Amino acid sequence: MDKIVIEGGHPLHGTIRISGAKNAALPLMAACLLTPEKQILHNVPDLRDTRTILELLGALGVTWQKNGNTLILDSSGIKDVEASYDLVKTMRASILVLGPLLARTGRARVSLPGGCAIGARPIDFHLQGFQKLGVTFTLESGYVDAHVADRLQGNTVCFDIPTVTGTENILMAAVLAEGTTVIKNAAREPEIGNLVDMLTGMGAKIIGRDSDRLVIHGVTALHSAETTIIPDRIETGTYLIAVGAAGGEATLTNCNPAHLPSLLEKLKAAGLTIKEGVDSIYVTRSGPLRNVDVKTMPFPGFATDLQAQIMALMTLTSGLSVINETIFENRFMHVAELRRMGADIRIDGRSAIVKGVGRLSGARVMATDLRASASLVVASLAAEGETHISRVYHLDRGYDDLVGKLKALGAKIRREKE
Ligand code: EPZ
Repeated sequence: MDKIVIEGGHPLHGTIRISGAKNAALPLMAACLLTPEKQILHNVPDLRDTRTILELLGALGVTWQKNGNTLILDSSGIKDVEASYDLVKTMRASILVLGPLLARTGRARVSLPGGCAIGARPIDFHLQGFQKLGVTFTLESGYVDAHVADRLQGNTVCFDIPTVTGTENILMAAVLAEGTTVIKNAAREPEIGNLVDMLTGMGAKIIGRDSDRLVIHGVTALHSAETTIIPDRIETGTYLIAVGAAGGEATLTNCNPAHLPSLLEKLKAAGLTIKEGVDSIYVTRSGPLRNVDVKTMPFPGFATDLQAQIMALMTLTSGLSVINETIFENRFMHVAELRRMGADIRIDGRSAIVKGVGRLSGARVMATDLRASASLVVASLAAEGETHISRVYHLDRGYDDLVGKLKALGAKIRREKE
C-alpha cells in the first residue's frame, strides 16, 4: 500500500484544473446500459471508482474506448445482468446499474452493497421505488434478484429522504417505463442535473431538472448522445479549503462556483477572499482564520462530502466551531486522526465541537474513507513538520492526480510505498 508524505507550513501558489465529477461520471457511465447505441462522455475523471465501474460494465458485456478523458461506451453486446459482490463491495455506487439493467432487459442481479466506513447506507428507498414501478425482487445470499414481468410501469415515487443515487436509479428506470413517473422529494444535486441532460440528449422526456419534483414521460427507446461530465464540486471545495489551511492563493479552472453556494459563503465568513468567475475561482487567505458553524444538508445546503475537510480547517482557528453531520450516522472517522495531529475536537452525537488550536503538528495518520483522507491532507498542509498518511487508496477513489495538483501549487508532497 502507498502512503503520502506532506511537509506542512508552505503557503500554496498557482493554478490547477479541476477534473470531472466522480459522482456524475458513475451514474452517467451506468446510463450507457439504457440503449444499444453508443454513448460519448467527455471530461471523465481517471479515478479508482471510474475504473471500478468500467470493470463492472465490462463484466456485463459493455465495451469501451478511452481517448484521454473522452470515453465511448457500447452496450450493444450486453450478455449478463449480474453485478458481482467482488465489485459491488468495493464501491456501493455499483447499485446504479440496477435501474438501467431493469429498463433495458427486465432483469438484474446485483449484490447488496455492504455498509461502509461512514454508515450502514441501506438501499431500501431504491428498492421501494423500483417496486412502485412494477419490479419484483428477492433478497437472497446477499443479492437483489430483480425482474419485471413485461415493461416497467410509470408511477409516483416519493422518497423519505432526498437520496442522490436513489433518485438517479429511479430516474434511469423511469425513462423507458410505460407511462409517466413522478419522483417527489427528489435529490437536487448538480450531478442529477448532469444525468438529466444526458438522458434528455438520448431522447428521454424529463421535466423539473434541479427541482425536488421530476416528471418523466416514458419512451420506447433511447439513442446515442454526447455529454460532458460537470466539474467535481467536491474536488473544487477540497482545494479551496486547502488554500484556507495552508495560506497563499490559487486559481481553480474548469470548475463551477454555482455548484458550491454554501461552501463559498462559509469560506468567506472564515476569512478567505474568493473571486468567482464563470468557470473558475480565485481564492486567497492571508489574514487569520475565523471559526464558523456548519450543518450538512442536501444540496444546495452544505455538502456532507466537504464536512471532514472544513473540520480540518476549523481546527486552525482560535475559536469554537460546531459541525453538525445530518446526512450520515458515522462520518467522524477523521476526528481521531486529527486529534493525533493536536486538534481539540469533542463528539456529541452527530455534532463535533471543534476548539481551534491555531496550529497542528505533523504525525503518522491513517486514511479511513475517501473524504476523511482528504481532511488529513488539508490538515497536514498546515501542520508543523511532516505528516505520513497511510492507506491512500481511499484518496485514489475520488481525487484525480491529487499529488500532481498539490505539487503544482507548491506543496511539499510525495507518494511512496508504505
Ligand atoms: C451520494 O451517496 C454520494 N455518492 C455520496 O458521496 C454523498 O455523500 C451522498 O450522496 C450524499 O450527498 C455518489 O453519488 C456515488 P444518499 P448516496 O442516498 O446516494 C440514507 C463521496 O464521498 N438512505 O443521498 O449513497 C443514507 O443512509 C460519496 O463521494 C437510506 O436510508 O447517498 C443517508 O443517510 C460518499 N436508504 C441519506 O439517505 C436508501 O435507500 C442520504 O444518502 C438510500 C439512502
